[in-house]
Amino acid sequence: MRVTDIITKKRDGLELADSEIGHLIKAYTADTVPDYQMAAWLMAVYFQGLTDRETATLTMAMATSGEMVDLSQVTGIKVDKHSTGGVADTTTLILAPLVAAAGVPVAKMSGRGLGFTGGTIDKLEAIPGFRATLERAEFIANLQKHNIAITGQSATIAPADGKLYALRDVTATVESIPLIASSIMSKKIAAGADKIILDVKVGSGAFMKTKTAAITLAETMVRIGQLVGRETIALLTSMEQPLGTAIGNSLEVREAIEVLSGRGEPALREVCLTLGSHMLVLGGKALTPAAARQQLAALIDSQQALAKLGELIAAQGGDASIVYDCRKLPQARYHLAVTSDHQGFVDKIDAAQIGYAAMLLGAGREHKGQSIDLAAGVALTCRLGQPVGPNQPLATLYSNTELQLQPAAGIIKNAVRVATQPGEISPVIIGLVT
Ligand code: URA
Ligand code: CA
Repeated sequence: MRVTDIITKKRDGLELADSEIGHLIKAYTADTVPDYQMAAWLMAVYFQGLTDRETATLTMAMATSGEMVDLSQVTGIKVDKHSTGGVADTTTLILAPLVAAAGVPVAKMSGRGLGFTGGTIDKLEAIPGFRATLERAEFIANLQKHNIAITGQSATIAPADGKLYALRDVTATVESIPLIASSIMSKKIAAGADKIILDVKVGSGAFMKTKTAAITLAETMVRIGQLVGRETIALLTSMEQPLGTAIGNSLEVREAIEVLSGRGEPALREVCLTLGSHMLVLGGKALTPAAARQQLAALIDSQQALAKLGELIAAQGGDASIVYDCRKLPQARYHLAVTSDHQGFVDKIDAAQIGYAAMLLGAGREHKGQSIDLAAGVALTCRLGQPVGPNQPLATLYSNTELQLQPAAGIIKNAVRVATQPGEISPVIIGLVT
């Protein structure tokens, strides 16, 4: 099979055979197809697209390019959640213990953050002592014992995707729906999920800026799931403003604890309860989302979900007492309150800019492998639609480097717009694709 023939076929808009896609991915992973040929193929896909069958075949070719995690020893339906990424998206830290407390096993492989979007692993590492790298045997033993385990995604999971994603990043081929869909789904499938729920973020702070694009991505992933026999549903949620109020690792752990304690930002709680309800139904622990929601709310009220977070932390070597005393989390040396210059109503909070400010303060990385300041970040004290007066606080900045406070404050002031009239606020739950 000649790789040039495969590129030509796709360039001319023809459908590739499973064997052609399989060969291409195998050869690229084995370094026998060079980057320049793969880049040409990716650009052909960018313009010509992929059929559903081609997309499903590509997904499985990438999933099986490395380890396929076998969770069959763990009793129950393993339901995995994936978010397409947003700012102040603390859902995993809340959802994982919440649904585990309801009896759905949570086997989570998460990433580190890059750019403004934080990774769950970084957030967990803000907890003193927490070990986020578990060997496969310990991961499975913890799952059996506690119904929950979280580990960093190893290089053994879908290595073809890792290599392709890096190439897409430098060849302007990231923004292709079938490539994004197959990339996300390949990792979830390789990580052992029986069923998958996707949180597709929509809005200025998200990868998908419009509802139309988000629906197309969601539908593509749901169809991949159907074709490969892993039931998948997708929730569309708003990223018109940061989901929660905290952006930064230690701050987000604190916010997760707040929500698990029955307090916290209502929008963040709502997204967690909605995702969690569907996870319970997929996992066979509830008959309807409404019944599931009641179960989850009760687990929050009784502090069982919070206790589950403590159990997860203790099982992975961390100091579980932080769930009852957040002051034991890393604290920043410097604080700065950012205040409003105007009187009116908050009508825009640019999530991407807020994320950028948090990164400047030390909470995120610009380059892979960079170290981060676990205590740094932004705590927003305003929401869309809220009335504010002059000199009223919009946010508090935290950092261990004093130098970045003023530049970050300038970014926050520009990111939060105050208008004379309150604007329209869209609901946080936009839709469901099944
Ligand atoms: N996230 C992924 O994992 N893959 C993509 O292609 C885009 C976002
Ligand atoms: Ca359908």
